[in-house]
Amino acid sequence: MRTCRDIATQLLAPGKGILAADESIGTMSARLVKAGVEGTAENRRAYRELLATTPDLADGVSGIILCDETLNQRCGDSIPFAEALRAVGILPGIKVDTGAKACPGLPGETVTEGLDGLPARLAHYVELGARFAKWRAVYTITDSTPTPGAIAVNASALARYAAACQEAGLVPIVEPEVVMNGNHSQLRCAEITAAVHAEVRAALALLDVDPAGMVLKPNMIVEGADHPTRAVPADVAAVTGKVLQAWPDDLAGVAFLSGGQEPERATANLAALQHLRTPWPLTFSFGRALVTPALLAWRGHADRYADGQAALAERVRANAAAVRSRTELQRT
Ligand code: 13P
Repeated sequence: MRTCRDIATQLLAPGKGILAADESIGTMSARLVKAGVEGTAENRRAYRELLATTPDLADGVSGIILCDETLNQRCGDSIPFAEALRAVGILPGIKVDTGAKACPGLPGETVTEGLDGLPARLAHYVELGARFAKWRAVYTITDSTPTPGAIAVNASALARYAAACQEAGLVPIVEPEVVMNGNHSQLRCAEITAAVHAEVRAALALLDVDPAGMVLKPNMIVEGADHPTRAVPADVAAVTGKVLQAWPDDLAGVAFLSGGQEPERATANLAALQHLRTPWPLTFSFGRALVTPALLAWRGHADRYADGQAALAERVRANAAAVRSRTELQRT
């Protein structure tokens, strides 16, 4: 357990966050195509190399989450990605779920799969150099969902994954994501997220998962993307802080997903969250809010490689600065 606690401490190093670059092959290819780049294995590799080799990335990024394909690819001519990251002081992580799939018995809802054979896969990922892992459960808000069944099966899977990770010496990032799709209010997002978290906490406790050796990756509490008004950062922080209060003091830390918020909004909300007095650090584990500007600046053009890296560096700097402001705030 010591190993997991030590790795978690490194992942949550003050002033740093986590970069989520673990889109599945299908999702990554679709995003490349949308940016005008062919969705090939080589282009996915080249894009991940652009991100991973951004100069001075380790100043604001403690770990990068990769997918299975990237962990098995090489950065540059010869070095496996995990090795290249560790050489610059960044912890390699691996997404180990196999996706949210239609859940039998729950029409329209999903359960995240990937538990079959998981301990053997985790052992293999440790050999490849991974030090932490990620599993994402997805909950959609409608008038009738998420149902208690969807909340229960996803919590159980998250807990089984987290326990397996800790036994393998990998820090589990536990990601119960209540997605922004829909026109629900911020209050409804708060109620659903609180119910989801309560079930996840209970499932983790049943399997004796060590809170100090795991990272919680929640959504910020915001209104649905189609809701007519937008909560301001101070409100997002206050409501999110209230929901998070129920987590134990010895939790290693919280690293938020961005969930489709515009990059600047995610950063402003992250900065507002630093005003909360919490027993654990609150940092970022953003995907889209960090990498979308980089992809759009690059678009597969060799002569815009540096622009892509500069766009990522700019978002990392802004979010790391937001997280660093906590130290100042807590001193006053
Ligand atoms: P976003 O920040 O784009 O929501 O991605 C984070 C993530 O890791 C989703 O699983």
